Amino acid sequence: MEKRLIWDIPTRLFHWLLVACILAQYLTAEVFDAIDWHFKIGYFTLGLIFFRLMWGFAGPTYARFSQFLHGPGTVLTYAKTLPSRHSPEHAGHNPMGGWMVMVLLGLVALQGISGLFIGDDIINNGPYYDAVSDATRDTMNAIHHTAFNVLLAAIALHVAAVVFYVRYKKQLLIAAMLHGKKPTAEPGISSSRLLLALILIIAVISLMYYAIEIAPPAPAVDADMYY
Ligand code: HEM
Ligand code: HEM
Repeated sequence: MEKRLIWDIPTRLFHWLLVACILAQYLTAEVFDAIDWHFKIGYFTLGLIFFRLMWGFAGPTYARFSQFLHGPGTVLTYAKTLPSRHSPEHAGHNPMGGWMVMVLLGLVALQGISGLFIGDDIINNGPYYDAVSDATRDTMNAIHHTAFNVLLAAIALHVAAVVFYVRYKKQLLIAAMLHGKKPTAEPGISSSRLLLALILIIAVISLMYYAIEIAPPAPAVDADMYY
């Protein structure tokens, strides 16, 4: 079968940058105690997710949510074909994988957003730390610490599924996420829409700058500091 371009450049870059960011976020929080970097990479990760959400509506065919999100009937029918080595290969995400993509995006978003409201109990507070009550802060803290374990479980499942497809079904998914091409009878994409991606990246940077540097309230002054 002819090899056709399925994964555009922005989707591939998004994926591998996301993997690097999650690894970096783990290292900066748990291993090196580098909270400054944890904040910066956290904002970048949130920007990545925001970009991917817009790309899901504006990107080329196989990046679009409408292309890979299907109703329960389709998902169930596909699930029944899982044990077969020769189940139909999808050019884009398969009907189960499509929902897994949304779970991963949602968990990373939850992780990043909850981080904005918490602090490290020393002097480093997220930009919205002072915008909420102690109770909300506690909830965000609980979410930030718990969601990471759920995210790790989801990533383990994701990687296990990918390895299952590569080893058992002989579908070369990892290579396709690297070079973008798959042997398929379905039509490939004609371009990666790089100009549109650039415009969206500028929009994301502007919005993130506003959300992190301009919109947050000024840090509360601790009266005890003066005595
Ligand atoms: C931090 C860890 C990871 C996260 C958060 C993650 C997340 C994601 C997301 C969100 C997608 C959807 C891509 C899109 O449409 O934009 C995806 C797809 C994919 N990921 Fe990962 N990923 C991780 C690690 C890995 C690793 C280590 C591998 C390789 C072993 C991998 C291989 C793939 C492949 C092959 C696809 C495409 C699946 C398909 O063809 O439907 N991922 N991943
Ligand atoms: C977007 C992806 C993010 C991931 C994957 C992530 C992951 C983590 C992890 C694994 C921990 C350690 C939790 C524990 O000890 O149980 C942590 C702690 C923390 N994170 Fe994040 N984080 C992210 C984003 C953010 C953001 C955007 C901020 C704030 C701007 C932030 C602020 C913090 C703070 C203040 C701590 C506590 C550090 C301490 O207790 O010393 N995180 N994060």
